[in-house]
Amino acid sequence: MRKPRPKTGVRDQLLEAARSAMKNAYAPYSKFKVGAALMTSTGAVFAGCNVENASYGMTNCAERTAIFSAVTQLGPKVKIRAIAIVNNQGAPCSPCGACRQVIYEFGPGATVFFRDVKSWKSLPIEKLLPEGFRL
Ligand code: THU
Repeated sequence: MRKPRPKTGVRDQLLEAARSAMKNAYAPYSKFKVGAALMTSTGAVFAGCNVENASYGMTNCAERTAIFSAVTQLGPKVKIRAIAIVNNQGAPCSPCGACRQVIYEFGPGATVFFRDVKSWKSLPIEKLLPEGFRL
């Protein structure tokens, strides 16, 4: 049986935390500020922003910043229940491929909230990353 989706309250709570984190984004190159916030299986919330670099390639996305922060605080057993992503341009923005793989690692069945062309979208990580890599 499929897990029930988190209620709208969870989405709104995560969107608010993601917007707050987005304000701290370091994005002088792209000017595209991103914020992400996740809820763990125990109900704790962690947020992150994108941190760019002059080398471009060393940039860390908001999603991974949030996930690494959760692992740092709670340890390697952390499980992501849901994660929300926002940006400062109201642009459609689903997580990049690298972040999908990292969400997949810590979030079996995690719900991902992101901006689509017309509205907010909510999809399980397995839909965004079919056949994700596991060891
Ligand atoms: N970015 C994120 O932080 N998350 C995403 O899901 C998409 C892209 C960042 C990386 C870079 O700093 C900027 O957005 C433009 O690509």
